[in-house]
Amino acid sequence: MSSFTRDSEGMLSVGGLRLADIAASHGTPLYVYAGDGIRDDFTRFAAAVAPVNGTVHFALKANSALGVIALLARQGAGADIVSGGEMERALAAGVAADKIVFSGVGKTAAEIGAALDAGIGQINAESQQEIEMISQVAAARGVTAPVALRVNVDVAPKTHAKISTGQRSTKFGVSTSQNEAATLYRQMAEDAHITPAGLAVHIGSQILDLDPFERAYGALLEFGTALRGEGLPVPILDLGGGIGVDYQHGEPTDFTAYGALVEQIFADTGFRLGFEPGRSIVANSGLLMSAVIHVKHGDNKRFVIVDAAMNDLLRPTLYEAHHAIQPVGPLGSMEGPADIVGPVCETGDYLGLDRMMPSLAGGDLLAVMSAGAYGAVMASSYNTRPPAGEVMVLDGELHVLRRQRSVADLLAEEELPAFT
Ligand code: LLP
Repeated sequence: MSSFTRDSEGMLSVGGLRLADIAASHGTPLYVYAGDGIRDDFTRFAAAVAPVNGTVHFALKANSALGVIALLARQGAGADIVSGGEMERALAAGVAADKIVFSGVGKTAAEIGAALDAGIGQINAESQQEIEMISQVAAARGVTAPVALRVNVDVAPKTHAKISTGQRSTKFGVSTSQNEAATLYRQMAEDAHITPAGLAVHIGSQILDLDPFERAYGALLEFGTALRGEGLPVPILDLGGGIGVDYQHGEPTDFTAYGALVEQIFADTGFRLGFEPGRSIVANSGLLMSAVIHVKHGDNKRFVIVDAAMNDLLRPTLYEAHHAIQPVGPLGSMEGPADIVGPVCETGDYLGLDRMMPSLAGGDLLAVMSAGAYGAVMASSYNTRPPAGEVMVLDGELHVLRRQRSVADLLAEEELPAFT
């Protein structure tokens, strides 16, 4: 069941609190997270991979609010990070350094140094150049770095092109064909400043079909087994993230089928397994609440202009992503289709097109659903619009995770040069 429900008067609510009341006290646009839902989805994921003894590292890129990370850390989650900044967030929110995995195709020497200084659990390297850099940075500190090699097994994940990472044509991983990855792994094993931690794979995001996972994991197992056959240490296979969610109706994600697949492939193989889910833990437990500014009637079209825009939620604009949109008040009868658009000066600035909506007027509230993943983290201040704030309802209590920045905050980041 969704964390967002309608009360006896038809008002959209979360954890017993009405969204309309939250808007009245905290303003709009506003991200609202259901902490209970995030906790439940993490617990369900962890339970699904418990039979294979998997370690779960929440992919911070999906939602890196300190409050979200801290909630997950309390449930035992580690963190998958892609920058020094995300590492600082993970540490600040209480994730132990040895439960952090550092992914990404372009880590700088400074980021690698900071990770080693913190005592990071695992660095997933993506190229020969990066392995050399990690080795040098570790050598300068007199330490050895735990490094897994991210491989590219050339599997098409059947998802949006901009979030597909599994094919050889992408910038990700080292190809397992042509011996490139095997040669690199042997080099890692001989390097005095690297402890080989194993192999990693991540083929893409919002993957709704299990078949691409099955093919990628099969290839990873085969490759890991071959390396072991040479006597090389391959303790961990990191299976990445990528499980898709239901953006139409917000139905809970079926982690059981995924867990069963993983068990079927890896049971009794002796590898330790790691996971990096992001979207599937947070997407459906977040919404973006927005107030209608005007309703404008164009030629045969109703435009509902709201106070959230592409700078708050970029996914519709960037990926033509669908997010369900609901009135926060009682549903009532539908007037007809409408485009829900923001105030930004671009035609691509919309949250939803051709959506059936009741009669709406200025001040009415709308909820853009399933916005808990890749929402607030991708916000910008385009058009000098301070991005939406973020709150979480957990166990019936409202917590502010991030206040909406003010225009003064934005201007304070800049210098006005004293031109002569
Ligand atoms: N691990 C690695 C190495 C990744 O690159 C990603 C996501 C994940 C884990 C988490 O994947 P998830 O479980 O969330 O699918 N902004 C896009 C999604 C980008 C995903 C990038 N990598 C969107 O809004 O759809």
